[in-house]
Amino acid sequence: MEQLIRRAAGILARSQRLVVFTGAGVSKESGIPTFREAQEGLWARYDPGELATMEGFRRNPRRVWEWYAYRFGRIEQVTPNPGHRAIAALERYLPRVVVITQNIDDLHRAAGSSDVIELHGNWRYYKCLGGHTGFTRADFADQTDVPPRCPRCGALLRPDVVWFGEMLPAEAIERAFAESSTCDAMLVVGTSGLVQPAASLPLYAHRAGSPVIEVNPNPSDITPLADIFLQGPAGQVLPKVVDTLATITPGQETGFPAACG
Ligand code: OAD
Repeated sequence: MEQLIRRAAGILARSQRLVVFTGAGVSKESGIPTFREAQEGLWARYDPGELATMEGFRRNPRRVWEWYAYRFGRIEQVTPNPGHRAIAALERYLPRVVVITQNIDDLHRAAGSSDVIELHGNWRYYKCLGGHTGFTRADFADQTDVPPRCPRCGALLRPDVVWFGEMLPAEAIERAFAESSTCDAMLVVGTSGLVQPAASLPLYAHRAGSPVIEVNPNPSDITPLADIFLQGPAGQVLPKVVDTLATITPGQETGFPAACG
Protein backbone atom coordinates (compact mmCIF):
# COMPACT_ATOMS: atom_id res chain seq x y z
CA MET A 1 0.00 0.00 0.00
CA GLU A 2 2.82 2.39 0.87
CA GLN A 3 4.28 1.93 -2.56
CA LEU A 4 0.91 2.56 -4.23
CA ILE A 5 0.48 5.73 -2.17
CA ARG A 6 3.92 6.91 -3.27
CA ARG A 7 3.04 6.24 -6.92
CA ALA A 8 -0.26 8.10 -6.53
CA ALA A 9 1.47 11.05 -4.87
CA GLY A 10 4.01 11.09 -7.71
CA ILE A 11 1.22 11.37 -10.28
CA LEU A 12 -0.44 14.14 -8.29
CA ALA A 13 2.84 16.03 -7.91
CA ARG A 14 3.12 16.31 -11.69
CA SER A 15 -0.48 17.37 -12.22
CA GLN A 16 -1.25 20.80 -13.58
CA ARG A 17 -5.00 20.15 -13.94
CA LEU A 18 -6.33 17.73 -11.38
CA VAL A 19 -9.97 16.64 -11.15
CA VAL A 20 -11.20 15.04 -7.93
CA PHE A 21 -14.47 13.19 -8.50
CA THR A 22 -16.35 12.19 -5.34
CA GLY A 23 -19.41 10.30 -4.18
CA ALA A 24 -21.17 9.47 -0.95
CA GLY A 25 -18.22 7.43 0.38
CA VAL A 26 -16.14 10.55 1.00
CA SER A 27 -18.74 11.79 3.49
CA LYS A 28 -19.33 8.48 5.25
CA GLU A 29 -16.71 9.15 7.89
CA SER A 30 -18.52 12.42 8.66
CA GLY A 31 -21.58 10.34 9.59
CA ILE A 32 -23.61 10.60 6.37
CA PRO A 33 -24.81 7.23 5.06
CA THR A 34 -24.00 6.12 1.51
CA PHE A 35 -26.74 4.93 -0.86
CA ARG A 36 -25.97 1.43 -2.06
CA GLU A 37 -24.04 -0.32 0.65
CA ALA A 38 -25.83 -3.38 1.98
CA GLN A 39 -27.86 -2.75 5.15
CA GLU A 40 -26.62 0.74 6.01
CA GLY A 41 -27.02 2.35 2.56
CA LEU A 42 -30.05 4.64 2.20
CA TRP A 43 -31.41 2.74 -0.78
CA ALA A 44 -31.20 -0.51 1.20
CA ARG A 45 -33.61 0.97 3.74
CA TYR A 46 -35.75 3.35 1.71
CA ASP A 47 -37.44 3.14 -1.69
CA PRO A 48 -35.84 5.65 -4.06
CA GLY A 49 -38.91 5.42 -6.33
CA GLU A 50 -41.04 6.88 -3.55
CA LEU A 51 -38.50 9.34 -2.12
CA ALA A 52 -36.31 10.51 -4.97
CA THR A 53 -38.57 10.86 -8.00
CA MET A 54 -41.08 13.48 -9.11
CA GLU A 55 -43.76 10.75 -9.27
CA GLY A 56 -43.07 9.85 -5.63
CA PHE A 57 -43.26 13.51 -4.67
CA ARG A 58 -46.56 14.01 -6.48
CA ARG A 59 -47.96 10.89 -4.78
CA ASN A 60 -46.95 11.95 -1.31
CA PRO A 61 -45.26 15.36 -1.07
CA ARG A 62 -45.35 15.37 2.73
CA ARG A 63 -43.49 12.06 3.01
CA VAL A 64 -40.78 13.17 0.60
CA TRP A 65 -40.43 16.57 2.27
CA GLU A 66 -40.12 15.01 5.73
CA TRP A 67 -37.55 12.47 4.56
CA TYR A 68 -35.36 15.23 3.15
CA ALA A 69 -35.90 17.34 6.28
CA TYR A 70 -34.61 14.37 8.29
CA ARG A 71 -31.57 13.93 6.04
CA PHE A 72 -30.81 17.66 5.93
CA GLY A 73 -31.08 17.81 9.73
CA ARG A 74 -28.33 15.23 9.85
CA ILE A 75 -26.18 17.01 7.26
CA GLU A 76 -26.51 20.22 9.27
CA GLN A 77 -24.87 18.58 12.26
CA VAL A 78 -21.85 17.07 10.56
CA THR A 79 -18.45 18.50 9.70
CA PRO A 80 -15.83 17.65 7.06
CA ASN A 81 -13.66 14.63 7.83
CA PRO A 82 -9.94 14.12 7.14
CA GLY A 83 -10.81 12.92 3.60
CA HIS A 84 -12.51 16.22 2.69
CA ARG A 85 -9.71 18.15 4.36
CA ALA A 86 -7.03 16.24 2.47
CA ILE A 87 -8.78 16.99 -0.83
CA ALA A 88 -8.89 20.69 0.09
CA ALA A 89 -5.21 20.54 1.09
CA LEU A 90 -4.27 19.45 -2.45
CA GLU A 91 -4.71 23.08 -3.45
CA ARG A 92 -1.62 23.97 -1.41
CA TYR A 93 0.53 21.78 -3.61
CA LEU A 94 -1.08 21.82 -7.06
CA PRO A 95 -1.81 24.74 -9.38
CA ARG A 96 -5.34 23.67 -10.30
CA VAL A 97 -7.76 21.37 -8.49
CA VAL A 98 -11.41 21.04 -9.54
CA VAL A 99 -13.70 18.97 -7.33
CA ILE A 100 -16.68 17.38 -9.06
CA THR A 101 -19.08 15.88 -6.54
CA GLN A 102 -22.29 13.90 -6.61
CA ASN A 103 -22.86 14.86 -2.98
CA ILE A 104 -25.32 17.52 -1.90
CA ASP A 105 -23.83 18.01 1.57
CA ASP A 106 -21.53 20.96 0.76
CA LEU A 107 -18.75 19.42 2.87
CA HIS A 108 -16.04 19.98 0.24
CA ARG A 109 -16.57 23.74 0.44
CA ALA A 110 -16.77 23.57 4.22
CA ALA A 111 -13.37 21.83 4.18
CA GLY A 112 -11.91 24.63 2.04
CA SER A 113 -12.07 23.35 -1.55
CA SER A 114 -12.43 26.46 -3.67
CA ASP A 115 -13.70 25.10 -7.02
CA VAL A 116 -16.56 22.64 -6.51
CA ILE A 117 -18.95 21.47 -9.23
CA GLU A 118 -22.12 19.97 -7.72
CA LEU A 119 -23.80 17.54 -10.10
CA HIS A 120 -26.78 16.61 -7.94
CA GLY A 121 -27.62 19.93 -6.27
CA ASN A 122 -27.07 21.31 -2.80
CA TRP A 123 -29.10 20.68 0.35
CA ARG A 124 -29.33 24.40 1.17
CA TYR A 125 -31.47 25.27 -1.87
CA TYR A 126 -35.10 24.75 -2.82
CA LYS A 127 -37.16 25.31 -5.95
CA CYS A 128 -40.87 25.17 -6.69
CA LEU A 129 -42.89 23.09 -9.09
CA GLY A 130 -43.72 26.33 -10.91
CA GLY A 131 -40.09 26.81 -11.93
CA HIS A 132 -38.86 29.38 -9.39
CA THR A 133 -35.45 28.62 -7.91
CA GLY A 134 -32.92 29.87 -5.42
CA PHE A 135 -34.92 29.64 -2.19
CA THR A 136 -33.36 28.83 1.17
CA ARG A 137 -35.04 27.79 4.41
CA ALA A 138 -35.29 31.42 5.50
CA ASP A 139 -37.72 32.02 2.62
CA PHE A 140 -40.38 29.74 4.09
CA ALA A 141 -39.48 29.75 7.77
CA ASP A 142 -42.81 31.36 8.70
CA GLN A 143 -44.98 28.78 6.89
CA THR A 144 -46.69 25.84 8.57
CA ASP A 145 -47.66 23.95 5.36
CA VAL A 146 -45.73 20.72 4.70
CA PRO A 147 -44.30 21.07 2.10
CA PRO A 148 -44.29 24.85 2.21
CA ARG A 149 -45.41 26.91 -0.79
CA CYS A 150 -43.40 29.04 -3.17
CA PRO A 151 -43.25 32.61 -1.87
CA ARG A 152 -43.64 33.82 -5.47
CA CYS A 153 -46.30 31.63 -7.08
CA GLY A 154 -47.75 29.37 -4.37
CA ALA A 155 -46.66 26.08 -6.01
CA LEU A 156 -45.20 23.34 -3.82
CA LEU A 157 -41.56 23.74 -2.85
CA ARG A 158 -39.09 20.85 -3.11
CA PRO A 159 -35.38 20.44 -2.43
CA ASP A 160 -33.23 21.59 -5.34
CA VAL A 161 -31.54 18.21 -5.69
CA VAL A 162 -31.57 15.87 -8.68
CA TRP A 163 -34.06 13.04 -8.53
CA PHE A 164 -34.06 9.87 -10.62
CA GLY A 165 -35.21 10.56 -14.15
CA GLU A 166 -34.27 14.25 -13.96
CA MET A 167 -31.66 16.16 -15.93
CA LEU A 168 -28.53 17.27 -14.14
CA PRO A 169 -27.95 21.04 -13.93
CA ALA A 170 -26.72 21.77 -17.47
CA GLU A 171 -23.91 24.11 -16.57
CA ALA A 172 -22.53 21.70 -13.94
CA ILE A 173 -22.54 18.59 -16.11
CA GLU A 174 -21.18 20.42 -19.16
CA ARG A 175 -18.30 21.81 -17.14
CA ALA A 176 -17.74 18.43 -15.48
CA PHE A 177 -17.35 16.70 -18.85
CA ALA A 178 -15.05 19.46 -20.11
CA GLU A 179 -12.85 19.31 -17.00
CA SER A 180 -12.72 15.51 -17.08
CA SER A 181 -11.73 15.44 -20.75
CA THR A 182 -8.93 17.98 -20.27
CA CYS A 183 -7.56 17.09 -16.84
CA ASP A 184 -4.13 15.47 -16.62
CA ALA A 185 -5.05 13.21 -13.67
CA MET A 186 -8.26 12.20 -11.92
CA LEU A 187 -8.69 11.17 -8.31
CA VAL A 188 -11.94 9.25 -7.80
CA VAL A 189 -13.11 8.93 -4.20
CA GLY A 190 -16.01 7.02 -2.67
CA THR A 191 -18.37 6.38 -5.52
CA SER A 192 -19.88 3.12 -6.75
CA GLY A 193 -19.79 4.48 -10.31
CA LEU A 194 -23.29 3.23 -10.97
CA VAL A 195 -25.25 6.43 -11.57
CA GLN A 196 -25.05 8.02 -14.99
CA PRO A 197 -24.11 10.40 -16.40
CA ALA A 198 -21.71 11.18 -13.53
CA ALA A 199 -20.25 7.68 -13.59
CA SER A 200 -18.86 8.30 -17.11
CA LEU A 201 -16.55 11.09 -15.99
CA PRO A 202 -13.60 8.80 -15.10
CA LEU A 203 -13.98 7.20 -18.52
CA TYR A 204 -13.50 10.61 -20.16
CA ALA A 205 -10.28 11.13 -18.20
CA HIS A 206 -9.10 7.61 -18.97
CA ARG A 207 -9.84 7.99 -22.70
CA ALA A 208 -7.92 11.26 -22.73
CA GLY A 209 -4.90 9.33 -21.48
CA SER A 210 -4.96 10.71 -17.94
CA PRO A 211 -4.14 8.43 -15.02
CA VAL A 212 -7.09 7.59 -12.78
CA ILE A 213 -6.43 7.01 -9.08
CA GLU A 214 -9.27 5.53 -7.06
CA VAL A 215 -9.80 5.55 -3.29
CA ASN A 216 -12.49 3.21 -1.99
CA PRO A 217 -12.63 0.44 0.63
CA ASN A 218 -14.39 -1.74 -1.96
CA PRO A 219 -13.88 -2.30 -5.67
CA SER A 220 -16.37 -0.29 -7.72
CA ASP A 221 -17.44 -0.02 -11.34
CA ILE A 222 -14.58 2.48 -11.77
CA THR A 223 -11.90 0.08 -10.48
CA PRO A 224 -11.29 -1.76 -13.80
CA LEU A 225 -10.12 1.45 -15.47
CA ALA A 226 -8.21 2.81 -12.46
CA ASP A 227 -4.44 2.95 -12.89
CA ILE A 228 -3.99 2.90 -9.12
CA PHE A 229 -6.57 1.53 -6.68
CA LEU A 230 -5.96 2.63 -3.10
CA GLN A 231 -8.20 0.33 -1.14
CA GLY A 232 -9.34 1.89 2.12
CA PRO A 233 -11.51 4.61 3.68
CA ALA A 234 -10.94 8.10 2.28
CA GLY A 235 -10.36 9.60 5.72
CA GLN A 236 -7.42 7.27 6.28
CA VAL A 237 -5.95 6.97 2.80
CA LEU A 238 -6.14 10.55 1.52
CA PRO A 239 -4.20 12.20 4.39
CA LYS A 240 -1.38 9.73 3.72
CA VAL A 241 -1.42 10.62 0.02
CA VAL A 242 -1.24 14.33 0.84
CA ASP A 243 1.51 13.82 3.43
CA THR A 244 3.54 11.99 0.80
CA LEU A 245 2.76 14.65 -1.79
CA ALA A 246 4.03 17.27 0.67
CA THR A 247 7.41 15.58 0.74
CA ILE A 248 7.60 15.78 -3.07
CA THR A 249 6.00 19.15 -3.80
CA PRO A 250 6.56 21.86 -1.22
CA GLY A 251 3.33 23.72 -0.55
CA GLN A 252 2.59 27.36 -0.08
CA GLU A 253 2.98 27.22 3.67
CA THR A 254 6.64 26.42 3.17
CA GLY A 255 7.10 29.56 1.12
CA PHE A 256 7.35 27.79 -2.25
CA PRO A 257 4.97 28.61 -5.08
CA ALA A 258 2.34 25.87 -5.40
CA ALA A 259 3.41 24.72 -8.85
CA CYS A 260 7.09 24.62 -7.99
CA GLY A 261 8.93 21.36 -7.47
P1 OAD B 1 -23.02 4.79 -3.48
O1 OAD B 1 -23.74 4.53 -2.20
O2 OAD B 1 -23.57 4.19 -4.71
O3 OAD B 1 -21.52 4.33 -3.32
C1 OAD B 1 -20.74 4.72 -2.21
C2 OAD B 1 -19.34 4.24 -2.42
O4 OAD B 1 -18.55 4.69 -1.34
C3 OAD B 1 -19.20 2.71 -2.44
O5 OAD B 1 -18.41 2.33 -3.56
C4 OAD B 1 -18.48 2.40 -1.14
O6 OAD B 1 -17.63 1.27 -1.23
C5 OAD B 1 -17.68 3.67 -0.94
N1 OAD B 1 -17.27 3.94 0.45
C6 OAD B 1 -17.82 3.54 1.61
N2 OAD B 1 -17.17 4.02 2.66
C7 OAD B 1 -16.15 4.76 2.17
C8 OAD B 1 -15.10 5.51 2.76
N3 OAD B 1 -14.97 5.63 4.07
N4 OAD B 1 -14.23 6.14 1.94
C9 OAD B 1 -14.34 6.04 0.58
N5 OAD B 1 -15.31 5.35 -0.01
C10 OAD B 1 -16.20 4.71 0.76
O7 OAD B 1 -22.90 6.38 -3.60
P2 OAD B 1 -22.61 7.26 -4.90
O8 OAD B 1 -21.69 6.55 -5.82
O9 OAD B 1 -22.23 8.61 -4.45
O10 OAD B 1 -27.87 10.37 -6.51
O11 OAD B 1 -24.04 7.30 -5.55
C11 OAD B 1 -24.25 8.12 -6.67
C12 OAD B 1 -25.61 8.73 -6.61
O12 OAD B 1 -26.59 7.72 -6.36
C13 OAD B 1 -25.83 9.70 -5.47
O13 OAD B 1 -25.34 10.99 -5.76
C14 OAD B 1 -27.32 9.70 -5.35
C15 OAD B 1 -27.58 8.23 -5.42
O14 OAD B 1 -28.85 7.87 -5.84
C16 OAD B 1 -28.89 11.19 -6.37
O15 OAD B 1 -29.43 11.39 -5.31
C17 OAD B 1 -29.30 11.81 -7.65
